Amino acid sequence: MKVNKEKRLAAEAAISHVADGMCLGVGTGSTVAIFIELLAEKISAEGISITAVPSSYATLLQLHDVGVPTIPLGCVASVPCAVDGADEVDAKLAMIKGGGAALLREKILAEAAQQFVIMVDNAKLVKALGTRVPIPVEVLPEALAIAMDRIQQLGGSPMLRQAERKAGPVITDNGNFILDVTVPKISNPAKLDKDLKLIPGVIESGLFPDQADIIYVGQEKGVKLLQR
Ligand code: 5RP
Repeated sequence: MKVNKEKRLAAEAAISHVADGMCLGVGTGSTVAIFIELLAEKISAEGISITAVPSSYATLLQLHDVGVPTIPLGCVASVPCAVDGADEVDAKLAMIKGGGAALLREKILAEAAQQFVIMVDNAKLVKALGTRVPIPVEVLPEALAIAMDRIQQLGGSPMLRQAERKAGPVITDNGNFILDVTVPKISNPAKLDKDLKLIPGVIESGLFPDQADIIYVGQEKGVKLLQR
């Protein structure tokens, strides 16, 4: 499939950031899953040693399956590099993340990363954020009604994300709910990110206005590099 090929191309480009002895942040999602396969191949082919800091249980389990040792996110304040996927990327390298509901730990990982490297397929490249996906917002369950009301006052339309193979809402790795928020126009992602987080009980937003340093966009004929 075209999308999978583009994800693989982006992951192949990102693997060049991996160096022997590195403590590497590893995000979440299907593109990251491809990256982890390539990482395991590189480790075994080159005999290098890598420690990974995962941003979700999904990533922790895959890293464990392929034999990459891990350190909990809560034990690191800085990593030289972290790699991750995204749901939307604009020309200024602002992003929406959280399609896999891992946005809170991904933002912590992005903060720890001296270099935050993103891998996406071409469909994720958008003219304006919010055109393809809503903004995921992680909310404490006790703040659900308040958060929905205040997000509506900000002009957003929140929908509680429902689980697919469990009755009721998605529960994040941190025990919280996800609101998927549609906003008519995101003119200032950094301001909207701050405004959302001023609502009591909103823990994190999936807006990543300025975290990405390098974005590899897998395309039909190769990889496009976006750099800050
Ligand atoms: C998870 C994320 C993912 O990085 C994002 O959803 C992209 O996923 P995929 O690589 O499967 O398209 O933010 O919370």
